[in-house]
Amino acid sequence: MPNTPAHPATANAADDPRCIPHKLTAPLPVGDACRYPDYTAEDQEVWRTLYARMEALLPARAADEFLTGLAALQLERDRVPALADVSRKLSRATGWRIARTPGLLDARDFFSSLAQRVFPCTDYVRSRAELDYTPAPDCFHDIFGHTPMIMHPRFADFYQRIGQAALRCQDPAVEEGLTRIYWFTVEFGLIRNPGGLRIYGNGIISSSGETLHCLTDKVRKLPYRPETLAAQPYDIWHFQDPLFVIESFDQLEGEFVRWAKERRLL
Ligand SMILES: [Fe+2]
Repeated sequence: MPNTPAHPATANAADDPRCIPHKLTAPLPVGDACRYPDYTAEDQEVWRTLYARMEALLPARAADEFLTGLAALQLERDRVPALADVSRKLSRATGWRIARTPGLLDARDFFSSLAQRVFPCTDYVRSRAELDYTPAPDCFHDIFGHTPMIMHPRFADFYQRIGQAALRCQDPAVEEGLTRIYWFTVEFGLIRNPGGLRIYGNGIISSSGETLHCLTDKVRKLPYRPETLAAQPYDIWHFQDPLFVIESFDQLEGEFVRWAKERRLL
């Protein structure tokens, strides 16, 4: 099962060492054990640029729940946040912690972390040439994109359930379905908020192009049902179409648990 590539990927992604999954031979540092890297001035400037650009796009586009999580995290705008700090805030809110990963993880290692409420997070910043996309997650995708949703109790539980279900998966066809469910929810999910359709998918929220594109009429919006998502192939090379809309995070988790239990994954 693939890990969670950032989006859209580049044509030469397969040659990029960041795209080669790491098979762990030792535990990742977790929480306070994640040391703050020696970021360059350029790294910090790229973080500031990405943050400012995405923050301007969030109103009326990002889900209320994402904005609530982002506000509660109080991520630094002017410097790359420390994983240890973000981990402490997540831990207080939902019992999740952050582990520092050197890049994409082997699927089993990745889902094993999720099952333990540990989010594997990169700490390197994309280059200035990659402001609009990266072939693999960087810390803007992981911290800005992913961690605000993990502050939401129901999303946090759903995310752990995904990890637990993936670890039990033996059937390649079911595994593919689970990968698609992950893709169309965690990375590319939409929700119907009181104010209208909003984004909660991290792959969208860390890409300005996808953020601007996904709510337009050019993209089909279909109701969330795990069976439908599991049957829907995706293409990492282009903007996503269709996208799937949840009514609530209770529905997201409840329907996923039903789907997984029917397949003896939970
Ligand atoms: Fe991701």
